[in-house]
Amino acid sequence: MRNVYLITAFVGALIFSIFGLRGTKFTSPPIDVFPEWAFPSMRHQPKFRPQSASNFFADGRADRMPPEHVVRADLPVRNDDHLYYGKDATGAFAPGFPAALTVDGKFLARGRDRFTLYCLPCHGAVGDGQGITKQYGMGATPTYHDDRLRNMAEGEIFNTITNGSPNKNMLTYADKLVPEDRWAVIAYLRALQRAQQGTVAEALSASDQNEVAKARKELGLK
Ligand code: HEC
Repeated sequence: MRNVYLITAFVGALIFSIFGLRGTKFTSPPIDVFPEWAFPSMRHQPKFRPQSASNFFADGRADRMPPEHVVRADLPVRNDDHLYYGKDATGAFAPGFPAALTVDGKFLARGRDRFTLYCLPCHGAVGDGQGITKQYGMGATPTYHDDRLRNMAEGEIFNTITNGSPNKNMLTYADKLVPEDRWAVIAYLRALQRAQQGTVAEALSASDQNEVAKARKELGLK
């Protein structure tokens, strides 16, 4: 009979130790069975917590300011308004691309790559707003091929990518595209617009146009 009490107590303790404190958050460190000096576990390290006090410095603060003239890699100097904010010196959205960037084939290829990844699902491969998300009920995606977006300053498009669209139906891509990539996407967006707008006269030399005209005639096309 005594064993029954013992076993019940044991099973009770076992169940409690396994399930009893599941999900509980502890604020103090666990009990150290083995002393730190004998078995260093790196659980105890001398340190100051952020914004705590310290008697070591005259001002009593543990946090220190970086010494003067220090350049911190995590705080880049963003002294190019056009490149980083899409704005000109007056604070208006700047037209065109920042002088620091070279818009060439490589840049456009990068833009297409990023566009395909981040914009195409909604805006569609040709920028007509007919991406796959439309089939799933996201009907608000506009086409790039209207005069408002054709005439919009590059800086304002940059602002849309950085901060999301005015009505917030499109969220920010600042966490996915570094500023240079945003500009590359804009260059590709412009290429998409031109692709729907360009005329034969713009794209082909006079002799090529003659060739095309001849071929069309032979094929019986207008
Ligand atoms: C989740 C779907 C979605 C994705 C992905 C998306 N957009 Fe949009 N985009 C929208 C919608 C919806 C609007 C309409 C804006 C609104 O009504 O707020 C819009 C609007 C725009 C506009 C017009 C803003 C204006 O002022 O009218 C531009 C330019 C644009 N998107 C560019 C991009 C670019 C570049 C990318 C990729 C980096 C992108 N979008 C990715 C859904 C998306």
